[in-house]
Amino acid sequence: MKGIILAGGNGTRLAPMTSVVSKQLLPVYGKPMIYYPLSVLLMGGITDILVIARPQDTALFQRLLGDGRRFGARIDYAVQEFPRGLADALIVGREHVGDDDMALMLGDNIFHGHDFASILTDALKNNVGATLFGYEVSDPQRYGVARLDHNGTVVDVVEKPVDPPSRLAITGFYIFTNDALSVAAQLVPSARGELEITDVIRHFVERGVARIIPLADGFAWLDAGTNESYIDACNYVHAIESRQGRKIACPEEVAYDAGLIGTDELRLSARLFRSSEYGMYLEQIVERETA
Ligand code: DAU
Repeated sequence: MKGIILAGGNGTRLAPMTSVVSKQLLPVYGKPMIYYPLSVLLMGGITDILVIARPQDTALFQRLLGDGRRFGARIDYAVQEFPRGLADALIVGREHVGDDDMALMLGDNIFHGHDFASILTDALKNNVGATLFGYEVSDPQRYGVARLDHNGTVVDVVEKPVDPPSRLAITGFYIFTNDALSVAAQLVPSARGELEITDVIRHFVERGVARIIPLADGFAWLDAGTNESYIDACNYVHAIESRQGRKIACPEEVAYDAGLIGTDELRLSARLFRSSEYGMYLEQIVERETA
């Protein structure tokens, strides 16, 4: 299973914050936004990851995350010249995916909830076509939305519907079998000029091999694409972290918990950030684990 993080786009809805900085490098309370999708992939045990970014940002992501060894992973980088749409990730990432299946994460999506690691592992293991994660929202018009039949089977997906068939938004984490690559390669741009991920998904829906896993009440899914959702995401992370004393989406910790790195690697990262609260947090994990 290969991982892709799509971290391009112009972030126009967050301008001027994104005038010179990529959206996925903006901080979401104490860590860069891309740490959140990266942690999801690591939590699922995915260690071969491609980060796709704009030409001017690729080097910055590379400086931030390096070759991935710190997280027990291998991270490569690819450029998306123009924001041609989410499905373009499966075109730009074609070589990286090769003959494998893939998990695509949008760079501005944040997931947090009880038992997510086992939900993820299960979903990755049992995918037979497309596996999606659904989340009930009050404003489905903003998202890709799934239409389900009475058995809970996905029968259609619609991108930003004016008249939504349900309140079940399709989150920005998608698992596909390898044939998604050839589906994406044949797509034509939608009326809004983008290669739509919903058009890729529809192909799997029509073959009866798409599944949606509803994320339960109490689970948090946030996308940080507008001023409102961005500050909501920052506030959420702050509230949970300060209350529980545990970080959300600390990729080093996630990698350690997933058995991808040991205390030696954790210690190195703790030193790298030693004067920050983040570094002290890592140091505490090392002390606890080596006591
Ligand atoms: O957040 C979930 C939603 O994400 C889904 O429900 C929708 O089906 C899906 O289309 C997408 O909707 P958005 O309106 O949020 O997509 P946005 O254009 O904001 O792009 C999402 C992320 O992907 C964002 O971090 C920027 C990045 N991106 C986007 C495009 C169009 C790229 O890297 N390249 C692109 O070409």
